[in-house]
Amino acid sequence: MFLLKADLIITMKIDIISVVPDLLQSPFGHSILKRAKDKGLLEVNVINLREYTTYSRAQVDDYPFGGGAGMVMMVEPLVNAIESLQKTTSYDEVIFLTPDGETFNQQIANHFSLKENLLLICGHYKGIDQRVRDHFITKEISIGDYVLSGGELAAAVLVDSIGRLIPGVLNDETSALTDSFQDNLLAPPVYTRPEIFRGWKVPEILMGGNHAKIDQWRMEQSLQRTKERRPDLLQDDPLPSS
Ligand code: ADE
Repeated sequence: MFLLKADLIITMKIDIISVVPDLLQSPFGHSILKRAKDKGLLEVNVINLREYTTYSRAQVDDYPFGGGAGMVMMVEPLVNAIESLQKTTSYDEVIFLTPDGETFNQQIANHFSLKENLLLICGHYKGIDQRVRDHFITKEISIGDYVLSGGELAAAVLVDSIGRLIPGVLNDETSALTDSFQDNLLAPPVYTRPEIFRGWKVPEILMGGNHAKIDQWRMEQSLQRTKERRPDLLQDDPLPSS
């Protein structure tokens, strides 16, 4: 729980529906996300989809109508799980992780970090019955142009990138503002002790203590890196579709 000047309390809850909940036990138990949970700023719950099926042997998938390879996650267990969770939580977004979704980026992470309750749905096999997508999903997100064996690792990426943006989670609140991709620029190079290692020297400007000059140098380095590595960022309109 974090108290802003106006006594606004910001906490976020992220619920994740998965058929392999064990996959998501470790990522949130360490480092920054652990700190966020320990401080009460972030709550992450992993819900086992198999607890919501009425089919025998905890079945949650079936053959696709019309034939074809692979299995499809059935509409009923997913709708049971979503509606059951919605009885106690009003979700700002119900997000399906899928390779054909909108490509995730820092702007979308910023956008989601301002929400209170998110529900993430992890797909498996050939995907989920389209009726779930049509009637329950409010956002479809891909973490890149490659296919994972399930949405869990993508969900972990979202939780990590969103969780660290919640006010109070990072020690130095400004450090998220200087991340790569904030302002559509890559971050500048950073150095720490020792000043000289194997004859490789830290740029002199960083040792001089003139913060205006250091800021200017960092901005120039950021721009140069972005031009060289990701010129597309300098042309993009960063705003996510809402
Ligand atoms: N599920 C499988 N592949 C994925 C991807 N690239 N992004 C999000 N969810 C996925």
